[in-house]
Amino acid sequence: MEPLKTIFLALFVVLASALYSTNAKTQEHEFVIQATPVKRLCSTHSTITVNGQFPGPTLEVNNGDTLVVKVTNKARYNVTIHWHGIRQMRTGWADGPEFVTQCPIRPGESYTYRFTIQGQEGTLWWHAHSSWLRATVYGALIIHPREGEAYPFPKPKRETPILLGEWWDANPIDVLRQATQTGAAPNISDAYTINGQPGDLYKCSSQDTTVVPIDSGETNLLRVINAAPNQPLFFTVANHKLTVVGADASYLKPFTTSVIMLGPGQTTDVLIQGDQPPTRYYVAARAYQSAQNAPFDNTTTTAILEYKSAPCPAKGVSIKPLMPSLPAYNDTNTVTAFSKSFRSPRKVEVPAEIDDNLFFTIGLGLNNCPPNFSPNQCQGPNGTRFTASMNNVSFVLPNNVSILQAHHLGVQGVFTTDFPTQPPLQFDYTGNVSRSLWQPVPGTKVTKLKFGSRVQIVLQDTSIVTPENHPIHLHGYDFYIVAEGFGNFDPKKDTSKFNLVDPPMRNTVAVPVKGWAVIRFVADNPGAWIMHCHLDVHIGWGLATVLLVDNGVGLLQSIEPPPEDLPLC
Ligand code: C2O
Repeated sequence: MEPLKTIFLALFVVLASALYSTNAKTQEHEFVIQATPVKRLCSTHSTITVNGQFPGPTLEVNNGDTLVVKVTNKARYNVTIHWHGIRQMRTGWADGPEFVTQCPIRPGESYTYRFTIQGQEGTLWWHAHSSWLRATVYGALIIHPREGEAYPFPKPKRETPILLGEWWDANPIDVLRQATQTGAAPNISDAYTINGQPGDLYKCSSQDTTVVPIDSGETNLLRVINAAPNQPLFFTVANHKLTVVGADASYLKPFTTSVIMLGPGQTTDVLIQGDQPPTRYYVAARAYQSAQNAPFDNTTTTAILEYKSAPCPAKGVSIKPLMPSLPAYNDTNTVTAFSKSFRSPRKVEVPAEIDDNLFFTIGLGLNNCPPNFSPNQCQGPNGTRFTASMNNVSFVLPNNVSILQAHHLGVQGVFTTDFPTQPPLQFDYTGNVSRSLWQPVPGTKVTKLKFGSRVQIVLQDTSIVTPENHPIHLHGYDFYIVAEGFGNFDPKKDTSKFNLVDPPMRNTVAVPVKGWAVIRFVADNPGAWIMHCHLDVHIGWGLATVLLVDNGVGLLQSIEPPPEDLPLC
């Protein structure tokens, strides 16, 4: 090329990147999935980790950045990684749920996830989306505002991610395997954890209790993430108020509370002030258990909020931290009051007219013991096997191609598009449900949505087996929660209660136990998006479905072509 042309080209590249990127960066990372010895509760397990870290590495980016993460599987299980809450605009191939957007990465193989963060700020996280690997394969994904832009609240002095987890004194994959064999509920966990540590109330754990630093006069940001596979959790700090400023990487109108509740998958950003005598205070989390008569892990995990100017334990001064009080395990009133406080910071654009009006029941079920099964394969209640469903369809993943690949390539016979838009049978969902309605039908059914469709989904809990607060998560989207309530949703009287002014935006809604929630969004992201209960035990039982959003017009309304290294089955 002649020099002049080269100079013009170089100038053009510089100008173009200045115009389009406004400082957006590309970050490259390597995740090696590997078995690593991890010692908790006095015993060592060969734990599946990322890069030998538990919890895995924290990713920190700015809004607008691109992430490129090469995942190499050196473990003995198939794996995928999901970037929980990332919208993945047109990049559904990087979403991660196995057999929905990709086939799993097999041992010895790798896959590079590439995606750009567009218009999201706050706390998200990443986790394995394959079997029960996310019990140990997870980490924080923190999105700061664009460079030069500020939070809509005073800049905190410190920021601390708080990952709430759940630990089995066993291989979690074996726990799942056993449940699959017996048809019974899987064993409950042995501990909860904060940043991977159970804390002082468990055996062999005090040594490594997580410390959260603060100092007098500081305002700090805690980025709380419920990464526990199977348990909604209450979270609180002794003697300190929490000011909620965001959830699921969307800002909120700030409000102050002493306790928060997070369903699995949910995140909550809270400000905390160093306005108490400088010493040590317990940070604590334990179960919110809405299902009656179901066994659950009733232990309490703790970390220590430690003032920098507190007397140093190394100097022989040991002060027992102050313990906060936590709500009762079944304190649904506290949960309701908390979720009713959620508002967007200002008036938002909620779809007022609806094109697709969907009504999905969500709940458990029991399958009669199949004739070819032995009694020890049917150890659920009264010789049954546990199951779960949405609109009476118990979701079955394909096993030889992903739904997105099948859709993209036009492969027939992988799924059908006849997922019911309404419950196939109307009944008193939260009343005493006849046993004849307890057994759903297995199927791989999806809901097709036109690009740009304005969608409303009523999520209705059922009391089949037991009612329960289900954290329902939708991939590829944030949605507005326009209303929540108890009992059966009644369009005649409940529609008038919709908040179409400043409803909160989230990616996971904790649907009230024996109640309902209504969400709205515009289907502006083409792809195959799984919507599921974020209790891992319920996903396996089939509490999931897929929304298949068509391409719109032109390149910018169409999904990108699949990456060359997309794993095949
Ligand atoms: Cu956090 Cu489908 O997942």
